[in-house]
Amino acid sequence: MATKTAENTNATTATEKKATVDNATVKSSEMKNSPLHKFFVDALKDIYYAENAIIDALGKLQEAATTEELKDAFEDHQLQTKKHVSRLEKVFKLIDEKPEKKECEAIKGLIKEGEEVIKSTEEGSMTRDAALIIAAQKVEHYEIATYGGLAQLAITMGHDKAADLLEKTLQEEEDTDYNLTEIAETSINFDAEQEG
Ligand SMILES: [Fe+2]
Ligand SMILES: [Fe+2]
Repeated sequence: MATKTAENTNATTATEKKATVDNATVKSSEMKNSPLHKFFVDALKDIYYAENAIIDALGKLQEAATTEELKDAFEDHQLQTKKHVSRLEKVFKLIDEKPEKKECEAIKGLIKEGEEVIKSTEEGSMTRDAALIIAAQKVEHYEIATYGGLAQLAITMGHDKAADLLEKTLQEEEDTDYNLTEIAETSINFDAEQEG
């Protein structure tokens, strides 16, 4: 009698399990067609393009910067940015999508602004560093807005592991932004103000 009950219980569990799997499959195909999922994937492609473009841009900023302190900050963040690219590749994998780049006009514009700063400021000047910091912070703020929003959407859609990865990158963008402010306010802005 006891054995029979156990068998029945197992049978029920197996059926329940199958139902759960089937529901998950249906749910995931429904999810993939949802407008919010499509937006989420598009936004990931946008920031994937942006991060790759930022790796190159940070190299140019590093070369153009006057102080070692700022050069180092750009170099450190370039290394972090490479991690951001591979984290995004993991996020794509977690949601069963391919990593693709979607041209991002916003980041192209922000990078162009950085190039304009290099052209319009004197090489070796502190004014250049003060201006480069602001150009770089505009990029960080774009990333902060993107990662903050996408991490929240990932939580809403139940992509918890993806959300963790997006939040990790968000934290690094926020730290970079804070660090750049510190560098500007500690000495660079003051020294730039002294330039004739
Ligand atoms: Fe980044
Ligand atoms: Fe960044």
